[in-house]
Amino acid sequence: MNRAIEINNVTVRIDEQLILDQINISVYSNEFLGIIGPNGGGKTTLLKTILGLIGPDSGFVKIFDDEPENQRRNIGYVPQYNSFEKGYPITVEEVVKMGFVLDKHFDKKKLTEAMEKVDILNLRDKLIGNLSGGQKQRVLIARALVSDPKILLLDEPTASIDSKTGKSIYELLNKINESMTIILVSHDIGAISSYVKKIACLNKTMIYHDDKEITKEILEKTYECPVDLIAHGVPHRVFHNH
Ligand SMILES: Nc1ncnc2c1ncn2[C@@H]1O[C@H](COP(=O)(O)OP(=O)(O)OP(=O)(O)O)[C@@H](O)[C@H]1O
Ligand SMILES: [Mg+2]
Repeated sequence: MNRAIEINNVTVRIDEQLILDQINISVYSNEFLGIIGPNGGGKTTLLKTILGLIGPDSGFVKIFDDEPENQRRNIGYVPQYNSFEKGYPITVEEVVKMGFVLDKHFDKKKLTEAMEKVDILNLRDKLIGNLSGGQKQRVLIARALVSDPKILLLDEPTASIDSKTGKSIYELLNKINESMTIILVSHDIGAISSYVKKIACLNKTMIYHDDKEITKEILEKTYECPVDLIAHGVPHRVFHNH
């Protein structure tokens, strides 16, 4: 299997505080990894380390056996927060176009394709700040997809949207996953568990179980995941068969 991401013994300190402690995980092509963990557990920091925006204090990250800095155009990133206030004066199409910043080859066809893929073509001339939360998320996913990445990293893409819209985003991601490796950070294990193929729990250290089935009990007791992560009406069996 082709290894897309290798995280090898990665430790990150910020202001002398230990944020990530010896993280090891490999993600292979076309995997769909969910990362859960409490606030401040280091999830966003880990994504930024994968992107090469934060350099580890020890250990290393490889993307397709290469330095993350060289591979940035192969990684689409949907950040946790977006600052598009109401009336923010740029259009949906312009936001999606920003995805080409790292890729000098602006391509009108790719721009249209990305918007089509996430079903926002009809919104292209609307102001980004006037969209609903779910629509904005789709725009940000289109922006991440526009340069044809091989890996997609999403940081809490469904945090502020209702469960029905969330479901449609997960279904979209499942389709995208047919041709792309995905890492999805979320608090909501109840929602992500039926979509992701593997799951890791991050709270400074990472607990990763290379298995399709993780029970609530395993998460709570063995892996010390906080209970509130899995209290969302989660059935006894967290993973469904794929
Ligand atoms: N630029 C920074 N300066 C100082 N501390 C930081 C910085 N970035 C992250 N941290 C600290 O690192 C820890 C991990 O933060 P991070 O944003 O990675 O957590 P998270 O798991 O994404 O949390 P959340 O679920 O709230 O998004 C926190 O204690 C945070 O305060
Ligand atoms: Mg975060």
